[in-house]
Amino acid sequence: MPALKFAVLAGDYIGPEVMSEALRVLTVVARQENLMLEPTPADVGGAAIDRHGSALPDATLKICAAADAILFGSVGGPKWEKLPPAQQPERAALLPLRKHFTLFANIRPGLLYRELTDASPLKTARIPNGIDILCIRELTGGLYFGLPKQTITLPDGDVQAVDTMVYRRSEIERITATAITAARSRKKKLCSVDKANVLETSVLWRKTVTAYVAQHAPDITLSHLYVDNAAMQLVRDPNQFDVFVTENMFGDILSDEMAVVCGSLGMLSSASLGAGQNSRGLPFGLYEPAGGTAPDIAGKDLANPCAQILSAALMLRYSFGLEAPAARIEAAVKRAVVAGTRTADIAFGGKSVGTRAMADAVIAHLA
Ligand code: IPM
Ligand code: MG
Repeated sequence: MPALKFAVLAGDYIGPEVMSEALRVLTVVARQENLMLEPTPADVGGAAIDRHGSALPDATLKICAAADAILFGSVGGPKWEKLPPAQQPERAALLPLRKHFTLFANIRPGLLYRELTDASPLKTARIPNGIDILCIRELTGGLYFGLPKQTITLPDGDVQAVDTMVYRRSEIERITATAITAARSRKKKLCSVDKANVLETSVLWRKTVTAYVAQHAPDITLSHLYVDNAAMQLVRDPNQFDVFVTENMFGDILSDEMAVVCGSLGMLSSASLGAGQNSRGLPFGLYEPAGGTAPDIAGKDLANPCAQILSAALMLRYSFGLEAPAARIEAAVKRAVVAGTRTADIAFGGKSVGTRAMADAVIAHLA
C-alpha cells in the first residue's frame, strides 16, 4: 500500500498538544500494521496569523490539496479575539477550508461508554447502557455561508447586521444521501431536524429529505423533529435517536449538546467529508476533534487527547479505507478509559492523568 499522505494542521492552544499524541498513536499503529505514514505539517489559524499574517496561507492550502486527508487540531482563542471578526481564525481558516474542499458532510458520533455513564449530566439511571447516536451536520451551507452577510449603518443612524440562511435542493439531497448511508450501517432509522414551522429553508429541507428518502431509501424509517423539540429530546432520552441529520447551525448547536450529554467534549471526534475523492478514490476529508482550543488548560498537560486520536481513526476509516486499524484505535481508547486511565474531564473528580499519559495508555492497549 502506498504511504498514507495527510496534512497535519495542529492549530492553536491545545491543538498541537493533542495532535502530537494522535500522531504518536498513528505511528505505533502504522508500525504494527505495516503502513507507511506521510504526514505533512502546515500552519493554520492563529499560529498562521502570527507567522504569515493569514489564518489560511496559500502554502497550507497547497499542502492540503496534495494530500489524501487533513488531520486538523483546533483554531482560535483569546490571543486573536481583537482582530476584526472576519479575520479571526475560526472564520478565516476553518470555514474557508470546509468551503474550499466542499466538505459538506460533518459526521459526529455521540458515543458514551457504559462504564462512563456517570460522566454524563444525565447519570447512569437515565442512560444505563451509555449512548450511541450519530449527528450528521450539513457543513457548507445555511447561515454560516449565505450572502449577504454584513453590518451596515442605516440612514436613521441605527446599525443593522444581516446573515442569510440559504439552501438549495441539491445541497439538501447530497447530505440526505450521506445520512442514508450512515443509517444503513446502523439501525436504518433517520431523524431529520428542521424548523419547518417557521423557516422557508426548513420547509424545503423537510420536503426534500422526505422525497429523497422515499425515492432512494424506502428501507429507512424516517422521522422529523423541530429543532427546539430535538434539543429537548436529546437531553430527555438521547438514545431515541439513532442517526439525525440537520442543517449547519442546528447541527453546530445540537452536536455540542450531544457532546456534553455524552460526558465530555474531550471525547467528541468528527469527520467532514466532501464531494471530492482523494487519490485512492475515497472521500477526501478533514478530521477534527470538536472540543475547541481550550486556552484555559493549554500547555498544562491536562487536555484529553482522545477526541484527536479518535478523529485520526476516522481518517483511517473514511479517507484510507482502513477499517481494521481504525477499529483497533477505537477499541484501544475504550479499553484505556474503561480500565480507569482518564484525563480530568472524564475522571469524575477521581484520580486523573495528563495528556501524554492518556495517550500512553491508549498505545499500551493497542498491543
Ligand atoms: C464546530 C465549531 C465551528 C463551527 C467554529 C469554530 C467555527 O464550533 O466545528 O462545531 O461553528 O462550525
Ligand atoms: Mg461547534
